[in-house]
Formats: sequence, structure tokens, C-alpha cells
Amino acid sequence: MEQKRYGHFDDENREYVITDPKTPWPWINYLGNEDFFSLISNTAGGYSFYKDAKFRRITRYRYNNVPMDNGGRYFYINDGGTVWNPGWKPCKTPLDFYECRHGMSYTRITGRKNGVEASVLFFVPLKKWAEVQKLTLTNQSKEVKQLKLFSFEEWCLWNAATDMENFQRNFSTGEVEIENSTIYHKTEYRERRNHYAFYHVNTEIQGYDTDRETFVGLYNEFANPEAVMEGKPRNSHAHGWSPIASHYIEVTLQPGESKDFIFLLGYIENAQDEKFQAPQVINKQKAHALIAELDTTEKVDKAFQELCQYWDALLNIYKVNTGNPKLDRMVNIWNQYQCMVTFNFSRSASFFESGIGRGMGFRDSNQDLVGFVHQIPSRARQRIIDIASTQFPDGGCYHQYQPLTKRGNNDIGGGFNDDPCWLIFGTVAYIKETGDFSILDEMVPFDNQPGSEVTLFEHLKVSMDHVINNLGPHMLPLIGRADWNDCLNLNCFSWDPNESFQTTENVSEGTKAESLMIAGLFVVTAKDYVALCQKIGKTEEAARMQQAVDAMIDAVKKHGWDGEWYLRAYDFYGRKIGSNECDEAKIFIESQGWCTMAEIGAEDGMVAKSLDSCKKYLECEHGMVLNNPAFTKYIYEYGEISSYPEGYKENAGIFCHNNPWVIIGECLAGRGNDAWSHYAKILPSYVEEKYQTLHKVEPYVNCQMVAGKDAFRPGEGKNSWLTGTAAWMWYTVSEFILGIKPDYDGIRIDPCLPETAGDYTVQRKFRDAQYEITIHPNGQQKGVKQITLDGQPVQGTVIPYSAGKHTVEVTM
Ligand code: BGC
Repeated sequence: MEQKRYGHFDDENREYVITDPKTPWPWINYLGNEDFFSLISNTAGGYSFYKDAKFRRITRYRYNNVPMDNGGRYFYINDGGTVWNPGWKPCKTPLDFYECRHGMSYTRITGRKNGVEASVLFFVPLKKWAEVQKLTLTNQSKEVKQLKLFSFEEWCLWNAATDMENFQRNFSTGEVEIENSTIYHKTEYRERRNHYAFYHVNTEIQGYDTDRETFVGLYNEFANPEAVMEGKPRNSHAHGWSPIASHYIEVTLQPGESKDFIFLLGYIENAQDEKFQAPQVINKQKAHALIAELDTTEKVDKAFQELCQYWDALLNIYKVNTGNPKLDRMVNIWNQYQCMVTFNFSRSASFFESGIGRGMGFRDSNQDLVGFVHQIPSRARQRIIDIASTQFPDGGCYHQYQPLTKRGNNDIGGGFNDDPCWLIFGTVAYIKETGDFSILDEMVPFDNQPGSEVTLFEHLKVSMDHVINNLGPHMLPLIGRADWNDCLNLNCFSWDPNESFQTTENVSEGTKAESLMIAGLFVVTAKDYVALCQKIGKTEEAARMQQAVDAMIDAVKKHGWDGEWYLRAYDFYGRKIGSNECDEAKIFIESQGWCTMAEIGAEDGMVAKSLDSCKKYLECEHGMVLNNPAFTKYIYEYGEISSYPEGYKENAGIFCHNNPWVIIGECLAGRGNDAWSHYAKILPSYVEEKYQTLHKVEPYVNCQMVAGKDAFRPGEGKNSWLTGTAAWMWYTVSEFILGIKPDYDGIRIDPCLPETAGDYTVQRKFRDAQYEITIHPNGQQKGVKQITLDGQPVQGTVIPYSAGKHTVEVTM
């Protein structure tokens, strides 16, 4: 069925261009790269925060609102009584032209109405704690235009959680200051806060508002604020209730004339003894300085150029040219971009993650950094140290930590027994990319306790030991609260709808619940650990762990094989999960992915059978489902997984995150045709072409979950942007399909391609070297026949690292 399209890719400009504001779901973008962040939808909805979307929310946003995505940064233009917004919302006045271009850390929204064009460029300049909104108004008509322009932001009272619930307090605390064209938000600054925010415009204003009810009217909406509709600001001064910031500017435009306005939403911190410039008056020095850096079109254009150059440099590190635009644009632009965004946010803030529920995940962040480490290795390095600092001395981990404090999150706790392995996964990727073994000697505390510091290597060791020290009756890893699948809660028995499955008591006494997913994950990461130990001369430790690997492989072959696929787990009582003997959910994807990646039993045909079973039972039009058949009833012994209706989330949804595991299994097995066909099914650019309406969510990034074949509406996507899928898609395509794999001593080249693949080139910046690699597949799916480096033949598949420019030719 031909589906309606809402936009298209513009590869030249690295943008996705939305041409109809009524997208099937808000299609968003992220602004900011390090400290100050904003979420922005295609109609300018969304919000900003400093570092932590829960504890330092700058502007207010209401999730799951009616209409959807109500609230954001808005410009209202009152043109002789016709009121409209460049992004269509909130007034929804029909526009003569609308376009939203989401680019790399910026968004440009353009609207036209009655001969006036309003184009707004939104971005956060590098290293600045501010969102720039450069509004350009152009009179395209033949008459003089007298416009009344109103800006709008709504302040959040900092803590996004209490902002939504503690009204007995909140309605009395709000405070603002107004100074010329700047509106300051200083709620709670008088007491413990040392930060405030401001909203500025670089021109004289003819009025303002800072009290929401006065500006909007108690019974009006964002779509028709009283002040805007009447074309008259109230000059209101908020005292409590809901502080906002709105500038009022009268603009005269001659025919053909264009004017820029630079709006700046900024965030400032002051030292305790420098908070005030006079009693009750906030110290505005830093705000003035920040404004001065960005108060002209020239300065802003320069800052924007710097941002674009920053992205040029990042995206030049790995560039492929296959001649297939659908593949190239994902590899060269959008997949890498999504990796940066997930690295920044983990799973905290999106249009599905409210920013208050979750901090940074231990396992999530370790996986995210594998998608990001080639971009800015120094940030990945710091992240590894931050993550490891939340680990416990026995190798166990807090499942999450708060980015602002970097402390483990007690509300969620720990006990997810896969968590420790991911630290190996992340660290090994970092060292292979950079060659920086010194990270292993960094002194890193346990649970952030001063005095508890040991080397990072020691953290890796206790991570491995945590698995070995927690084996069950079949010598397979005990699952703990859950493994990668947060919802497979085999030791948490709940009949109480008021308790969260993630925090229900974890009954470990007497449990026999073991995980085949952790078994496979352990083998993969422990092999890496063994190789690392050998590399740094720790041969005894390497031998010790090799034994554990061999034992685990034996255990899987003996107790983890079901005949046609790997089992998923044993439950609390030692009964099989994910077996042909089960009534439902006979096969699960996670253990197929990890045990095939670990190549367990490949020599006995297990890997090939498992991969075939994935095709037979899990694959459907939109990807591979997590389990099959779906659970049709709640199973007390399994927990949250069986709480979802069939085909959604962990109950037989297409959980995109784990599809790449099987794809890598296919690549290792040399089955390039199958690997590609699984990959293309969940590759956004292929989905974009066919399913914009059905898929609903942003067509330029992966989403966490696509409704599976048992769902009511298979193919519908949810939870876009923040998902481990980003890093896994990147890792899979860059290293296993296109076959350019960083290694300790150089780059390993070992592609796995569909037979139809033609010649392609990869430009890869690696440490201080720049490689230009050309691959001639010759119709082969796998197997490198010959490599030459600068014209000289290379033994094996690793091109040894040396600085400088190199040309590599690969024949398969
Ligand atoms: C979590 C991951 C988890 C996955 C599967 C995601 O929401 O962020 O940590 O592995 O769900 O349960």
C-alpha cells in the first residue's frame, strides 16, 4: 500500500526535510552536545535542560498532552489580526508554506503567511550554555508590513518531577527579574540554588510578560494567548504561580526587507559568595557576558559555522561510498548522529522518556559508547571511568546513575547480572580504537567511595568474577534481577499492581534461574578479556579466564541447547524457558544472538541451526521479534515480559536493539545474504521509503521497538531515538558488514556482504592515520583473499597501524 509521505532526506545538507507539520507523531531533534541540551520537535515543541533532564530542567514540558506536543519555544506573529507561528503550532493557522529541516544538532523551521516569511534557526553553540533562536523575518509582499511579534518560553521550576506535583509549594515560589530585553528566571535562587536562566533578545522591546495566566488567560490556550490575540502585552511581573518569558516587539518591514532577531535562552551558575549584586538582585555579570558573545547576526552565524565544522570533522572519521544512497546516508550521517545523541542521553530524555524516570544506564552507556568511541574517544574514556566508579567491590553494579551527581541511583538498585560484562565490552572497544592502554591503570573507586580506588583493570577483573561467582545448578550464569531483558524477572514474583517489576523484591535464596543470554555475553566478553590480558602480559590471568570460557561453552552445549536453537533461561525452579517444550515463547532472540556471536557449538552445527531458526520463527516483514509465539497470559514466574500484550515491547515486539546480535552471528558465520536482509528490514532509510505513516516515529533514526507480527498493528514504531539499537546498528554495519574493525595493532578487514554488493570505499581516520580502503567483493559473501597496503601485500586480515595516509585494496 502506498503510504503518505511527510518528508524526505537531503543528503547534501545532511538534513531531513519535513514538509507537512502534521507528522504521524512529533518528529524531533536534539540540540546541544555536552552540557546544555534541548529537545525540539518539527513544530518547535520540546524543552531545554542543563546536564540532567530531571534535576536541572530549564523550560517546562507536559508529556502526553492534548493536543500532542503542546508547549515549547514559540514565536507568535500578529499580522493585522491574523496570528500564526512559523512552525504551525500552537495556533495551527494554515500556512502558505511550511518546512522543518532537522540537521546535525540544529533545526531550522520556516513558515510563510500572507507575504511574510519567518525562518528560525535553533541551535546550541559549542561549549555554550544557551540555545540560540535566530529568527529571520522577511517581507515578501509588495506592501509595508507592521507586525507584532511575541516570543514565548515557559519556565520549569528546575526539578522536573516536583514541578509536576508539588503545587502547594510551587505556586508560591516563582520569581523573575526583568532588565531591558532580558527576562531572568530565579526561582529558588534566594535559597539553595546557585543557578538561574534567562531569555534575551538583541533588540529593544516594546513590552513583555512573565506571568502565564496574565499572558495566556486562565481559560485560553497556547493556541490563543490573550495578549497575542489582542496584540497587547501586559507587562506582567510573575510572583509565584507560573512564570514565563515573552518579549513583545513591533516590527516594520518594507517590501523585500528582512530583519534578524537573536533570541537567547541561557543558563548561568554563580559561586555562593557571588550570587547577588544587591540585596535580592541576582548577579547578572555572567549573563551579560554570555549575551555579549551572541548578540549579533555575525556572531551567531560564526557560532553556527563552528558547529557545522565540528560535525564535518566528526563525520569524516568513517565515510563509506557504496553508491546505495539508502545505506550511505545511514552510515555516514544518521546512524552516527543517533549514536552521539544516545551517548549523551542514555535513556533519559526523549519524547518517550520523560527525563525524570531514568538516569544513565550502566549497561546502556557501555553499549552506547561503542557507537560513539570513534567520534570523541576522550569523552568515551571519561564515561568508562564514570560508569566504573559506580560499581561495587564484588563486581555488581548500580543499574543506573544520575549524570549530574554521577552517583548510583538507589531507587533502581542493582542485581542485573549482565551489567558487569558490559564494562569489558565498552573498555575493549575504547582501547582498540585509541591504542590507549593507560586507561587500565586509572584509579577508579567503588560506589564512588573515596579510599576504595583500584585500577580500572581490577574493575574488569571483578566484573568477570561476578559472573563466575554467580553460577547456577547447570554452571550457567544466574540471572539476578534480570539480564539484558529488563523484563525477564525470574526471581521477582509479583501480584501487586502497585509495585514496579523493576524494584519488586529480588528473591535470590534458593533460585535456579540461569540465563543463556549472559552465558553467551560472558563468552564473547571473556574472550576479549583473555586477549586483552595476553596483550598486556597478564598470562596467568588470561589462562584462568580461558578456563572459565571453556567451562561456560561446555555448560551451554550440555544444558543450553534445545535441538534447533539455544534455550533462553532456566526459571527459579530450574524449568526451561525458550524451549520447544514450552507452550508459548518457545524461542527467544537474545540467546540466539549472543550464543551465535560467541560461536558456541559452531563445529556441531548449532550456530547454523540457531540462525535458521531465527529466520523461521522470529523473522517477519519488519524485522525479528523477540520471542515466538508471544505470551498470551501473565506468568507470575516470568514477570514483566508476560505483562505486555502480544507483539509489543519485550513480549514479541521487534526489539530492534537485539536484531543486530543475530546479524553479527550471521556475519561471523559468513552468511552475508541473510545478514543484509535482516539489516535492511530495520534500517530507517528503507523503512522511510515504504512505511512513513505506519511506522509513525521519526524515519531518520531507529526506534527501540517496532510492533511485532503478533501485534494489532505490526510495523508501528515506538520509543524512538534513545535506544541501544543505534550503537548496535553502527557496530554491525561498520565492523561486520562493511568489515572495518579497529584492533589493538591496526584495522582488521573482514566484510560480510550480500552477493549483490559491488565495489565500495571506506575512508577511515584511525588514531593518527587516514586510510582509504577499497573493497572488491567479487560476488563473495565472506572471505578476504588479498589485501595490499600502499601497494604492498599484507599477511592476514589486519593492516598494521602506522600514522599517515594509506591506501588499502582488498580483494574477496
Ligand atoms: C533498557 C535496556 C534493556 C532493554 C530490554 C531498554 O529499555 O534501556 O537496558 O536492555 O530495554 O529490556
